Amino acid sequence: MIKPKSVEEVLETAKVEEVIQDYVNLKRRGVNMIGLCPFHAEKTPSFTVSPSKGFYKCFGCGKGGDSVSFLMELEQMDFPEAIRHLAKKYGIQLEETEVSQEVREEQQYQESLYLVNEYAKQYYQDQLFNTDVGKSVGLSYFKERGFREEVIKKFGLGFAPNKTDAFTLKATHGGYKLDLLKKLGLTSEYGRDFFRNRVMFAIHNLSGKVIGFGGRILVKDVKAPKYINTPETDIYNKSKVLYGAFFAKRDIRKEDECILVEGYTDVLSLHQAGIENVVASSGTSLTVDQIRLVKRYTENIKILYDGDLAGIKAALRGMGMVLEEGLNVKIVLLPEGEDPDSYLKKVGTEAFREYVTQQAKDFIMFQAGLLQEESAGDPVKKAKLIKDIVDSIARIPDPLKRSLYVRECARIMEVEEQLLVNEANKVVSQRFKKGQHEQERARLKEEAPQPEDVFSIPPPTHREKQAATGDEFQEKDIIRILIAGGGAVFDEEENISVAQYILSNIEDVMDTFDFPLYGQVAKNCHERLLAGEPVNTDYFLNHIDEDIRQMAINMLSSPYEYSENWEKRWEIFLSSQKMPDENFASDSTQALKRFKLRKLNKMIRQNAEKIKQLFEQKSDDYMTYLKLDQKLKGMRNELAEELGTVVL
Ligand code: CTP
Ligand code: MN
Repeated sequence: MIKPKSVEEVLETAKVEEVIQDYVNLKRRGVNMIGLCPFHAEKTPSFTVSPSKGFYKCFGCGKGGDSVSFLMELEQMDFPEAIRHLAKKYGIQLEETEVSQEVREEQQYQESLYLVNEYAKQYYQDQLFNTDVGKSVGLSYFKERGFREEVIKKFGLGFAPNKTDAFTLKATHGGYKLDLLKKLGLTSEYGRDFFRNRVMFAIHNLSGKVIGFGGRILVKDVKAPKYINTPETDIYNKSKVLYGAFFAKRDIRKEDECILVEGYTDVLSLHQAGIENVVASSGTSLTVDQIRLVKRYTENIKILYDGDLAGIKAALRGMGMVLEEGLNVKIVLLPEGEDPDSYLKKVGTEAFREYVTQQAKDFIMFQAGLLQEESAGDPVKKAKLIKDIVDSIARIPDPLKRSLYVRECARIMEVEEQLLVNEANKVVSQRFKKGQHEQERARLKEEAPQPEDVFSIPPPTHREKQAATGDEFQEKDIIRILIAGGGAVFDEEENISVAQYILSNIEDVMDTFDFPLYGQVAKNCHERLLAGEPVNTDYFLNHIDEDIRQMAINMLSSPYEYSENWEKRWEIFLSSQKMPDENFASDSTQALKRFKLRKLNKMIRQNAEKIKQLFEQKSDDYMTYLKLDQKLKGMRNELAEELGTVVL
């Protein structure tokens, strides 16, 4: 572990502009420097670096921080990695605390596994490029498939000759331990080469180290599998890897989208065509780990399926967890019998890009459309269809997004919107309760807390806290209801309390409270609920925190007031509205609506910015956002109407 003293030295020495200049071309602009943002695609620079303040800020995408967070974000390093990187750059000798013999051995073991794999990759590459059989069999195979040499080299493709143990012998003669070769799956139990007479695909981890291989057979053979892959090893865990992620990560972030395909060759083809934000699941269904990997770079994922309907339906069923992770999923259906690689080669890059853009359908709409077609005129099937869709929608963590989907799906499936709303609300609440039980169990199981590793905690970023605005009112209102009526029953049938209802609906915006005290209270209540403890008036009146106790007393004694700011800011009439005194259930629904109204207004403004920006860039994408604008405004107006308010 790096000593704190060394960390400090690095932080004091590193200059943000020097670190960033390794990646971005910066120009002076007064006291600041500007350049093209490395975190999103832009044509005019909005990425600003302040050498005197020691931080950067992009006015396009909002990313900002210091030299360490820049590296963490751009290179996906963790804190110690970023510190080590900077130490190297500035020639600083890091002092480390002693590591135990055990830890050191483990590190050395891991390192040696990577070394051996790197050796193997070079061996296969050497076979491909520098041997007669490699050239005539392997290289000509790749070339026939249209892969150019620079891509072949970049992705570390190779060739394993048809010999029993040529690789194993060479490696062991070169001093690599047989034991390690076996541990890596390169050599079989009996000392034979695992990969024989196959073209080889090196599989890299996120930092570009080789963790495994896939080998493709060259001839059609019904008995042998088309691909064989490295078995699970200490460094290769198939379910945690996305093929191509190392080469794609930068573009995924830039495009703010990840294209997901199935095969190694699909990744290569798209890459070669200049579409570099692409990774492959390697033929298996997506895992949570793989999704979280994508989520480090973007929330938008576009899945390219070949046009086999049965296969697609199976795949759709597994999509719930992608939605749960909060990702926006689009589906592109390729023509029957084509995979991305073959279709790209058939129609060319331009037509391929166009097809992918035009055919991309939002996942839930896609599902709704597909099932609607299928269940036409069959009420039983239709009921099942509604259940499926509601289940998908309910997995979306963002309540606002949920309501957008409910509306669209109701339209597509020709059912009453309210029906979907009710169904979705039920599933959301049930899920919330299930979450409580799981947390409870986890809590009981939890052992003594481990000492924290200080260096694994990312440094504070210079995220600006939004200035306090006139949003106090609805936040206060939410808190007031939690205090006065959190323990009341919201839905008798489902056994849901008002606090459960409110908190499950604002789970995802818990961090967006403008007023820290209210945000803190909401968070505490949420934790209490998850721990199975009640949230009610008594709890607040006996709170250990004097501030909160006082606040509770104040709120209980003057339950009804409107902020002047709130009225001015949103230009909303509130005079006609009465606050039902003891009716906490409808009270909380109202409060939530106001909360959402505020969020909607924020989204509308953000969206307007986006439209303006795209329009100036002459990008047709602004049309999409125009549509969203209409939708958002429609929802806003409706909400306002329900609230008995007027939007000018
Ligand atoms: N796969 C595998 N083992 C197999 C078959 C497939 O691991 N026996 C994985 C590979 O990662 C492969 C992916 O599933 O890339 C998709 O399989 P498939 O569509 O059959 O192959 P392609 O990638 O299209 O390969 P090619 O174009 O060379 O036929
Ligand atoms: Mn293919």
